[in-house]
Amino acid sequence: MSIITKIRNALTQNYPPRPKFTEADIPSGSQKGKVFMVTGGNAGIGFELCKLLFRSGATVYMACRSQEKARVAIQEIQNHYGENAHGMGQLKALHLDLSDLPSIKEAARQFAQQEPKLDVLWNNAGIGGNAAKFGEHTTQGLEPLIGINCVGALFFTELLLPQLTASRASETAGSAQQPTARVVWVTSALADTMSPKNGIDFDSLDSGIKDRVANYAAAKAGVWILAREFARRHGKDGIISLPVNPGNVRAGSYNGTGAFLMWILNTLMLYDVIYGAYTEAYGGLSPSITLKDNGIYIMPWGRVRYDHDTPRQDIIKAMNSEEEGGLGYGRKLWDWCEAKWKPYV
Ligand SMILES: NC(=O)c1ccc[n+]([C@@H]2O[C@H](COP(=O)([O-])OP(=O)(O)OC[C@H]3O[C@@H](n4cnc5c(N)ncnc54)[C@H](OP(=O)(O)O)[C@@H]3O)[C@@H](O)[C@H]2O)c1
Repeated sequence: MSIITKIRNALTQNYPPRPKFTEADIPSGSQKGKVFMVTGGNAGIGFELCKLLFRSGATVYMACRSQEKARVAIQEIQNHYGENAHGMGQLKALHLDLSDLPSIKEAARQFAQQEPKLDVLWNNAGIGGNAAKFGEHTTQGLEPLIGINCVGALFFTELLLPQLTASRASETAGSAQQPTARVVWVTSALADTMSPKNGIDFDSLDSGIKDRVANYAAAKAGVWILAREFARRHGKDGIISLPVNPGNVRAGSYNGTGAFLMWILNTLMLYDVIYGAYTEAYGGLSPSITLKDNGIYIMPWGRVRYDHDTPRQDIIKAMNSEEEGGLGYGRKLWDWCEAKWKPYV
């Protein structure tokens, strides 16, 4: 891959053109009857996304590790729309702690008791690189970044398969339309720039990587690999699965970053948080994405990136299956994650 392509990719990811998928593309009331789930919906990008989705008339589950934070966030969204909120959708809190595997199972059980279908799941929740020190662990002893972003998110998604596939059945029963069940996996541009060779290093998944940014980047490369593998496995069920880089926006992922670096980031690279929500909304709702695009990478603020434009051809090769001439990292990482959650099914 030429240096020109690498520079072009860095520029277009970090300094994207104006968004083309915004509130105007998700009109008030347009998603009535749809059921959506946003993990980590109480803060940052997830919160702004919940605001857009609530306005669209859908039932929106805000899956959060703190019920109190979820309650406050729901109230804030309702206050934001004031009297108009009555004609909009519904916001519901769901307790979910992705760093605790039994909590994930319980969240899926609680959801199944309330809804027969799920139209779009946004696997948005995550922690920044600085939020966990080297050597820290989740409740079941996993490295936190991989534990939350990969093991937790994949376990939750697999548990929600009955509702995701039911959504497709109800959509296609009455019309000849494309199935609409989707799963959005939130990755990061850092997977391109800071992750190890092949995206992840299986030998360091248990311990994590000492460099906190590289550790975050590896977890986000893992998300990208799992999103592609999910598309490969569940495309036949009519589920579209997309890795989405939401772009660099002013939200909690940067908590713990030093003041001087934060000043530089704010000045040179960070955009308003709503742009991240537009990008995630594009992945979940844009009609221009169809099953033939399954697994494709979404860039800010809502554009597809084809594999040949990807600067990390090593990651593309690693995530492709052996039959496609790749290293089969999708299957390998999936199996690794599944082994971690198996005792808690
Ligand atoms: N901001 C950016 O520039 C940027 C760039 C690339 C990718 N991303 C990704 O975009 C997503 C959102 O980032 P953000 O900046 O909006 O982050 P944020 O403001 O810190 O919000 C993260 C959300 O995830 C929740 N969360 C964290 N750990 C959780 C767990 N164990 N179980 C359930 N929920 C959990 C947080 O809950 P609490 O409020 O309880 O902590 C919060 O609701 C993340 O996946 C991040 O990696 C962000």
